[in-house]
Amino acid sequence: MDRKAALVTGASRGIGAACALELSRLGFDIVLTCRGNVALAEEVASQCVTDTLVLAGDCADSAVCKDWVAKTIERFGRLDVLVNNAGLTRDTLLLRMTDEQFDDVLKVNLYGAFYLCRSALKYLMKSPAGRVINISSVSGIAGNTGQSNYAASKAGLIGFTKSLSKEVGKRGVTVNAVAPGWIETDMTGAVPEEVTQSILERVTLARAGKVWEVASAVGFLAGEGASYITGQVLSVDGGLAL
Ligand SMILES: NC(=O)c1ccc[n+]([C@@H]2O[C@H](COP(=O)([O-])OP(=O)(O)OC[C@H]3O[C@@H](n4cnc5c(N)ncnc54)[C@H](O)[C@@H]3O)[C@@H](O)[C@H]2O)c1
Repeated sequence: MDRKAALVTGASRGIGAACALELSRLGFDIVLTCRGNVALAEEVASQCVTDTLVLAGDCADSAVCKDWVAKTIERFGRLDVLVNNAGLTRDTLLLRMTDEQFDDVLKVNLYGAFYLCRSALKYLMKSPAGRVINISSVSGIAGNTGQSNYAASKAGLIGFTKSLSKEVGKRGVTVNAVAPGWIETDMTGAVPEEVTQSILERVTLARAGKVWEVASAVGFLAGEGASYITGQVLSVDGGLAL
C-alpha cells in the first residue's frame, strides 16, 4: 500500500525500459509511457516485479502529459519519481536542417519534460522524497556535429534541471540530470558504423555503455542515498566528455 510510484517516459525500449525495470527492482510501482508501441511497453511491464500501468501518447503534446499524470494518480494515488527519458534525434548538418527537424527534437526532448514536470510537480511536492530525473546527453554538454537541434534540446534540459531544482528544493523535491554518452540502443544502432567507431575511439573506457549502466545511475538518484543531491548533471559516458 505504501509503495512509491515512478513514471518513466519512453519506457518501451532502450534506456527507458532499463530505468523502468531498475526502479521496479528498487520497489517502485511503475507507469511506463511510450509513443505508440504498446505491445513492447507491455512486454517490459511484464518483467517488472511491482505493479505497472502502460500509457501511450506523444509527450510533445501537453494534454497527453497532463493525462498521463492524472491517470498515474488515479491508479496509484501518488507520484514520487518522474524520469523524463523519451527522446529522439533528427541528425543533419545545420545548413540542411529543416524547421520541422529542429521543432520535432525540441518538442519531444525539451517541451515534453516541461509539460510533465508542470503537471507532476504538485504530486512530487506531496511525496516524502520527490524526484525529477531528466535524461540529457553528452551532446548537451560538449555539442556534436550534425546534432545542433539535439544538443540544444539536451543543453536546454540541463538549464531547465538547474532552474527547477532551485524552484522546488524548499519543497523537498530534487531535480537532476543524467548525461549518457554512447549507449547501445536502437537510437545509436541507426548511426553509420564509421561514425560509431570514431566516437568509441574517444571513450576513455574504450567501449560503448549498456542501458543498465544508465539505469543504475537513475536508480541511485531516485533513492534515499541521493537525498542531498540536486541540480546536478551525472555523466554516464565512460569518460567520453573528459
Ligand atoms: N543511446 C544513447 O547513446 C543516448 C545517449 C545520450 C542520451 N540518450 C537519451 O536517452 C533517452 C533514451 O534513448 P534511447 O537510446 O533509449 O532511445 P530509443 O530510441 O531506443 O528510445 C526512445 C524512447 O522514447 C520514446 N519516444 C520517442 N518519441 C516520443 C514521443 N514523441 N512521445 C513519447 N515517447 C517518445 C520512444 O517510444 C522510445 O521508447 C533519450 O532521451 C536519448 O536522447 C541516449
